[in-house]
Amino acid sequence: MKALLAGCVAALGCLAVAVAAISESMSRAEEAAAKIDLPELFEECNETFTTPKATLNYFFSHGRLQNENDYGSKCFIHCLADRSGEIDSDGNFDVDLIKVMTRRFPNETNIEGLNEMVESCVADRGETDFCERAYGLVSCLIKEKLARLGHSD
Ligand SMILES: *[C@@H]1O[C@H](CO)[C@@H](O)[C@H](O)[C@H]1NC(C)=O
Ligand SMILES: *[C@@H]1O[C@H](CO)[C@@H](O)[C@H](O)[C@H]1NC(C)=O
Repeated sequence: MKALLAGCVAALGCLAVAVAAISESMSRAEEAAAKIDLPELFEECNETFTTPKATLNYFFSHGRLQNENDYGSKCFIHCLADRSGEIDSDGNFDVDLIKVMTRRFPNETNIEGLNEMVESCVADRGETDFCERAYGLVSCLIKEKLARLGHSD
């Protein structure tokens, strides 16, 4: 009985440690997200990959570019993801940060299953080109978000 109790306590302890580790990594992501100044990033990225506002508005409201061959605009999206820390210089994603940003952008929205949605968009990335990869991710996130908010087209 004593051994059993000790086992339960140990298991609970492990669970508590696991939960603490998860919330620690999410609060790191929350802190990183709080430092991101999106309007500034838009301005910076526009200096290198000049993209009309209308092109971006279309993208953010449809989850795809009007012209899918517009590579420069895909690089603009990569620039945003890169400067915000969502994608690193090896093309790896910061999944926790992407979760926070997806919830926040463009407005704070609570979508059921948002974490699973982000994980599946990340897992689906087969692109090796960085601009295509960032574009593929953000397209997937926007499309899924719109569908879940009931604005799919
Ligand atoms: C990028 O710069 C161009 C030229 O200065 C401007 O017309 C355009 O609106 C800017 N795009 C964004 C997203 O701010
Ligand atoms: C979301 O943000 C946009 C632009 O900032 C605003 O026009 C819109 O009303 C907001 N939507 C909601 C649901 O808050």
